[in-house]
Amino acid sequence: MISDRDESFITLAIESSCDDTAVAVMDGQREILADFIASQIDSHSIYGGVVPELASRMHQEAIIPLVESALAKAEIKDPSKEIDLIAVTSGPGLMGSLLVGVMTAKALSQGWNVPLIGVNHLEGHIFANCAASDDLEPPFISLIVSGGHTEIVLVRSFGDYELLGSTRDDAAGEAYDKVSKILGLGYPGGPVIDRLAAEGDPNAFSLPLPLANTREIEFSFSGLKTAAITLIEKQRECNEKLPVADLCASFQKAVTDTLLSKVKLAVRQTGIKKLTVSGGVAANSGLRGALKVYTSRKGISLFLPPRHICTDNAVMIAAAGYNSYMRGNRSDLFLAPNPSWSIWR
Ligand code: KG4
Ligand code: ZN
Repeated sequence: MISDRDESFITLAIESSCDDTAVAVMDGQREILADFIASQIDSHSIYGGVVPELASRMHQEAIIPLVESALAKAEIKDPSKEIDLIAVTSGPGLMGSLLVGVMTAKALSQGWNVPLIGVNHLEGHIFANCAASDDLEPPFISLIVSGGHTEIVLVRSFGDYELLGSTRDDAAGEAYDKVSKILGLGYPGGPVIDRLAAEGDPNAFSLPLPLANTREIEFSFSGLKTAAITLIEKQRECNEKLPVADLCASFQKAVTDTLLSKVKLAVRQTGIKKLTVSGGVAANSGLRGALKVYTSRKGISLFLPPRHICTDNAVMIAAAGYNSYMRGNRSDLFLAPNPSWSIWR
């Protein structure tokens, strides 16, 4: 039950940039009143990855029922009076998927006469950390690792982001998904490889760590993926039963070591001892464990959101939208999806 609406600032947020339709209602930047996600994973997994046309159709089916559920859960009876802001992911992402969220948000904004703000999906991932913690203030280093992105960003202040480095090719999550496909473990690959890795020996196989020892903050997960796939094929030829758990554990160790080596470099280069992590791969047990050990040894503050707000969700979009609105940003009915929107300098 919401006791004091006068003190509150209510944001309705919509996220539909890829294959999750998500709607959240938040009070301010941290209080979650409703948080709904309709995952399309089962529909896409038979194809081994996200099918854009299918994704946009499924967003269309899911979005209005989700908005209705979120309003009911948040006990909002008159949105035009009780909602202060509508935040929507307007890029980057799949065009057809973004369109569904943006058009819905624009229609609701106009129908209810409520201000609208377009949110960058990656700024959203950074704000997953703010939604989960009450004492996170810039400057900090942010590792964003998902199915579409692998970036290390310096957050100088909210709204001022410098890209310290990124991947030359595949994202870390993409490598998980492709290796999983070769192992016949389905889509998305991250959670299942993570689970199996816990039963395997991370030192069973040694995989190369492309670019891990350069002095640049850059990644190549395509190289690691190819090495893992070659290893799997060799093992298939010489083993009756594929050592799946050992392969998963060795691959996971290689991804973790690679990410950790560049986080260390970013800390050394900037001298900043505050680190946030977000994106689907931030749910990974190996990465979470390694980051905890490293940061506690070095006296670095680590912000790791709970797993369910590492993957795509609308809570992070509400938090980012609220903060952006309070910084003075506004969108209007000309808001259009931008599939390749970049906010880094
Ligand atoms: O952030 P997200 O939900 O969507 C994108 O913006 O991409 O991330 C999805 C990605 C997928 O590639 C998935 O395999 C990966 O995150 N993922 C994980 C784990 N959970 C999800 N990767 C490693 N370990 C996990 N536990
Ligand atoms: Zn994402």
